[in-house]
Amino acid sequence: MRKEILFSPGPTNVPADILLEGAKRTIHHRTGEFAGILKTLTAPLKKVFGTDGDVFILTSSGTGAMEAAVANFVSRDDEVLVLNIGAFGKRWVNILKIHGLNPEVIEYPWGKTFNLNEVREKIKNKTYKAVFCQLSETSTGTVNDIKSLGEILPEETLLIVDAVSGLLSDEFQMDNWKVDVCASGSQKGFMMPPGLAFIAVKKDLEYLKNPSSFYFSLDSAKKSLNKGQTPWTPAVNLLYQLVKSLKMIEEEGTDNIMKRHKQLAKITRFAVKEMGLELFSSSPSNGVTAVKVPDGIDGTLMLENISNKYGVRFANGQGEYKGKIFRVAHMGYVNVPDVLMALSCLWLGLNEAGAKIDSSAIAKTLDSIKNAAI
Ligand SMILES: Cc1ncc(COP(=O)(O)O)c(C=O)c1O
Repeated sequence: MRKEILFSPGPTNVPADILLEGAKRTIHHRTGEFAGILKTLTAPLKKVFGTDGDVFILTSSGTGAMEAAVANFVSRDDEVLVLNIGAFGKRWVNILKIHGLNPEVIEYPWGKTFNLNEVREKIKNKTYKAVFCQLSETSTGTVNDIKSLGEILPEETLLIVDAVSGLLSDEFQMDNWKVDVCASGSQKGFMMPPGLAFIAVKKDLEYLKNPSSFYFSLDSAKKSLNKGQTPWTPAVNLLYQLVKSLKMIEEEGTDNIMKRHKQLAKITRFAVKEMGLELFSSSPSNGVTAVKVPDGIDGTLMLENISNKYGVRFANGQGEYKGKIFRVAHMGYVNVPDVLMALSCLWLGLNEAGAKIDSSAIAKTLDSIKNAAI
């Protein structure tokens, strides 16, 4: 019997209650019944993002929402700035270039956040149309200080944030933090299968009338939304699942969801440090913990072994960090017992790969949970 549990930062585990919703009869989307479903999603989605503006649901993965943000809010002659702290920061650069822009980039070493003083310097003599960054940079398990960034940017500069992995695990308040546009996806904090993306837009922010994308035109999306529709055929069954996901989120409450993720992150960091391992990020996120592979261990082989033998799927490092770091995601449908199981399998896997780590790391983790220290 093979049972696999995901501790990878997307896709994440999907609760059976959400999976089952997807098995319902597919309805036609140009109907009142569909409009009713779309309507029920409006208020809870706005709440999750913390915005009074529109939240558009796209049939795509999270990258589609990033591309929609570029296509609808900036054009080829605009001066834009990317704060690149990892693989997904680089993705903003690539998307912008494909849309004909020539972004300025402040690039940071992987594992670090952006530096507000450097941003301050950069915006002193030039007014950018938009600044692009990540809430949580998943490739390195790093959370950025979006609130402070929002405070230093001038009114006329759009703050465009990729919260594909950060939303619902790291704190995020779109309107209060002066974020203009935010991209996210279904397969992480929403506890859903992949396939939907979200783009939230500050109230009354104008979209380009001639966006550099047909499929992702928010002008079309807004006109359809006003009629209770989407411009193109939506992923109807994923929307049933989204209704359930938002109900579960409402029942738990976003404050409790944040607290849970904070605790899961703390437990994970505590345990890996007790195992003698080093965290990779200087500002670890609450959704994913990146850890350096100890010297002399083949990280890729170790992860394969843990997956094959125990059915626990962690994520490898990306790019040049493949085999050098690994990532333990604790986002979405995850609780304390899940994380304890994953950490125990990690401990087994490390020892099977040749590391000599005694089991006191696990015992101390249990002790500190018992003593409510974490
Ligand atoms: C921070 C971040 N941005 C963007 C993406 C891209 O999302 P997708 O793979 O759904 O297109 C991911 C996916 O892991 C992500 O973690």
